[in-house]
Amino acid sequence: MRTLFLGPGEIDQAAVILRSGGLVGIPTETVYGLGANGLDRAAVERIFQAKGRPQDNPLILHIPDPSWLERYCEDIPETAWKLAKRFWPGPLTMILRRKPVVPDVVTAGLYTVGMRCPAHSMCRTMIKAAGVPVAAPSGNLSGKPSPTTARHMLDDMDGRVEAILDGGDCQVGVESTIIDLTCTPPRLLRPGGIPLEELEDVLGEVELDPAVTRPLETGERPRAPGMKYRHYAPKAPVTVVRGDPVHSAQYILEHVGDSYWEGVICFDEFAHWFEDHPVERLGSSMDCFEQARRLFRALRAMDEDSVKHIWAQCPDTAGMGLAVVNRLSKAAGFHIVEA
Ligand code: TXA
Ligand code: MG
Repeated sequence: MRTLFLGPGEIDQAAVILRSGGLVGIPTETVYGLGANGLDRAAVERIFQAKGRPQDNPLILHIPDPSWLERYCEDIPETAWKLAKRFWPGPLTMILRRKPVVPDVVTAGLYTVGMRCPAHSMCRTMIKAAGVPVAAPSGNLSGKPSPTTARHMLDDMDGRVEAILDGGDCQVGVESTIIDLTCTPPRLLRPGGIPLEELEDVLGEVELDPAVTRPLETGERPRAPGMKYRHYAPKAPVTVVRGDPVHSAQYILEHVGDSYWEGVICFDEFAHWFEDHPVERLGSSMDCFEQARRLFRALRAMDEDSVKHIWAQCPDTAGMGLAVVNRLSKAAGFHIVEA
């Protein structure tokens, strides 16, 4: 199969491919997604094949506006409408009770479904033109860092999807925040583009799923099935160094050795300390939004440099920091040291 690369003038073509059962790489504000018609069982099955994704890992349904929620969900709590009003379109996924119209293959047989209304206007225009909800996981091969550019998506999916719609670089850079509204108090299943503190502002108490901050113990099952898989991992092992930025940079400097094959992911302020190594900058130590935007790109760049080991500075968990720490920790298989 030859993968078409489509531009902003070709949104209708992407919509036609979706409607006819094809797979399309879709731009969103968080990361690129691997989309299919969410009501077409056979098309959705192809997503799992293209990604190499385990069948027990459910997909998010993407809709162009909040009014579509009622088509696919029932018993929608008042809090869902409040969250939609404040954060949609935007990087928030809500877990709600699904209606029977949503195929089992989308939800991996769960009685719930993840719903998201993305902020990227090309994405919403395409979904509206297709007239169907779009089931889409992140557009990476299973286990790899999510793609934040159309080029990264092509690197993983060339020949596996009919088309990729190029909507530019992703502005958020980490995936959506996932909140489960089917339990009390609501539960944060994955930190992401909307900080926890902003959700608490609307919801009051929010419970943190254990899978967000620590590895699961044997036999323990996360609420978001995807959180149990090795994820976001570059080829080389990663060591995450926690602590205030000066201390973590010092720790890396003391341990990195002089081999060119040791890569460093660090805040801009410290990049000049590591001139003899492949370095990827995450932005200022003060700017978690920039760190989120650059993280997956940095992990992919380390693969291209063919490093044998990666050292990474880690922000604290305030605001967007929680999502950055979560992705880095998972990329490292929770191999974390304190500076
Ligand atoms: O920003 C995003 O959310 C991106 C873009 C493309 O929208 N999508 C994304 O999808 O990150 P994916 O499949 O890579 O991650 C979705 C996560 C998985 O961990 C999955 O297990 C969980 O959401 N999930 C999906 N449906 C669920 C459900 N009904 N209950 C619990 N977890 C669910
Ligand atoms: Mg993913």
